[in-house]
Amino acid sequence: MDLLPVLAQRRSVRRFKPVPIPEEDLDRLLFALQRAPTDASAQLYSVIRVKDPGLRDEIARLSGEQEHIRQAAEFFVLLADIHRLERLLAHRGQAMASWPRTALHFAILDAGLAGAYLALTAEALGYGVCFIGGVLNGIEALLDLLKLPPGVLPVAGLAVGVPDEEGPPRPRLPRELVVHEDQYRPYTEEDLERAYQAMAPYSRVGDWNRVLRRYFAQGGTMEERERPYGRAASRQGFDPDLPQGARFYSFGALLEEALAEARGVLFRPGEAWLEREAEAFRGEGKPAEALLTALRKARGEIPGWP
Ligand SMILES: Cc1cc2nc3c(=O)[nH]c(=O)nc-3n(C[C@H](O)[C@H](O)[C@H](O)COP(=O)(O)O)c2cc1C
Repeated sequence: MDLLPVLAQRRSVRRFKPVPIPEEDLDRLLFALQRAPTDASAQLYSVIRVKDPGLRDEIARLSGEQEHIRQAAEFFVLLADIHRLERLLAHRGQAMASWPRTALHFAILDAGLAGAYLALTAEALGYGVCFIGGVLNGIEALLDLLKLPPGVLPVAGLAVGVPDEEGPPRPRLPRELVVHEDQYRPYTEEDLERAYQAMAPYSRVGDWNRVLRRYFAQGGTMEERERPYGRAASRQGFDPDLPQGARFYSFGALLEEALAEARGVLFRPGEAWLEREAEAFRGEGKPAEALLTALRKARGEIPGWP
């Protein structure tokens, strides 16, 4: 099969016909998913095939009412997953290394590659696909909704179905702005202007900056996603400082919250004290763990304490 014509014509599809994908094609798509390369053979990803219409509906709602999540014949949630790896090591009596940052790096990459292989195969078979980063809008709710264990984090959704729309492929940046030779080349003002010109057709009004601004400028969507994503990542055990289960964006965010309701915070080796006017609360362990315990005591969240 020649992939180049598929690549040349492909575009994300957001309207689908209410037609199911036959089992043999679904089997091909899931085969492609699993044929993707993977770091050190570990396959640090899982997917959830969302069949339950109620669940689909809830995910569509959490993702900013994206109707194509409801419409598509198939909808997958791609997951970064080191939970299975931890279980496999434990099954042979081994404890997993502490590698939260690199784990997330490779697991997201594995999930993305597997999703891309599925997506491209679907497009080669004539289906339309749309990745859904919008699942990050409701990432904390999604952890509960999909019953994700620690070590598992949503990466993106992937809608697949029979297209009910047509259109030209969407533009891309000039190749020289994306492909560097030998070393990273600094961008000139002319380069940036050329980028906006090349991408102008992406926007209905011919201004790509509108799109970039909406997502990436101050006050944009990405800023809204940042804290919930950090909280979900630390809850699932992907923060190097915070203990798994801690629902804080970062150690700094935990410290800020603690300081907002205390006169001061004191750290000593193996312990932390949260001080109020007439009382102090103590926690033990590494700094974040100790402060978390002290804060939970101060908030009356530890049953049976004092
Ligand atoms: C990680 C990722 C997240 C995306 N999230 C969404 C989304 O939430 N909703 C949507 O309609 N399209 C989404 N897309 C599709 C992009 O908007 C699309 O790929 C991009 O605009 C380029 O258009 P094209 O795929 O038609 O070339 C996403 C794509 C990727 C790769």
